[in-house]
Amino acid sequence: MRIDIITALPKLLDSPFGDSILQRAIKRGLVEVVVHDLRKFGLGKHRQIDDYQFGGGAGMVMMIEPIAQCIESLQAERNYDEIIYMTPDGKRFDQKTANALSLKQNLILLCGHYKGIDQRVRDAYITMELSIGDFVLSGGELAAAVVSDAIIRLLPGVLNDESSALSDSFQDDLLAPPVYTRPANYKGMKVPDILLSGNFPKIEEWRHAQAEQRTLERRPDLLRED
Ligand code: ADE
Repeated sequence: MRIDIITALPKLLDSPFGDSILQRAIKRGLVEVVVHDLRKFGLGKHRQIDDYQFGGGAGMVMMIEPIAQCIESLQAERNYDEIIYMTPDGKRFDQKTANALSLKQNLILLCGHYKGIDQRVRDAYITMELSIGDFVLSGGELAAAVVSDAIIRLLPGVLNDESSALSDSFQDDLLAPPVYTRPANYKGMKVPDILLSGNFPKIEEWRHAQAEQRTLERRPDLLRED
């Protein structure tokens, strides 16, 4: 898989991809993440990428030309499955979308700033718009990092324990059950006996029941049929 991220603030993405699981996935060649500095496509000697909005109003709007040129230069190299704009008015990102996107070959994530991007970019180039929640970030970079992380960890070989992504919260519309590690007794706080029993079918049953109970208490909306 390849993910191209278009941003006016490329440095914001250094650390999410420079550490831990994502960095290991990149080093192992399981995913290629390429960050593109939109300024390189900016207009004139000031490399302008934003301007006042027509009709008046506060806040600058990102211009169509630099974004269009950047996207078109990428499209000249390969076909993209989705060109995704990160925006608070997009569709709410969830595990199902992460699963679906993890099966794609090439993705572009476009990060917005200021008041947003010229609507014509959205009309002409964008195939999917994603929000990571009902709050407004100062830019799409952190949202793009969140979406990339959720996708990349699903790619085969990225997690050491192959089964662990499948038992995540949300994978079967249930939250994950509680987990414990040593010591079995910390100052009188004991690990549930069942987990020490070695009876694996019973342990699975217990975990499933715990997952259902936790989901019912915390996220009953997930249990509703849709
Ligand atoms: N850009 C700004 N806020 C955002 C959000 N909540 N989700 C995705 N992109 C954003």
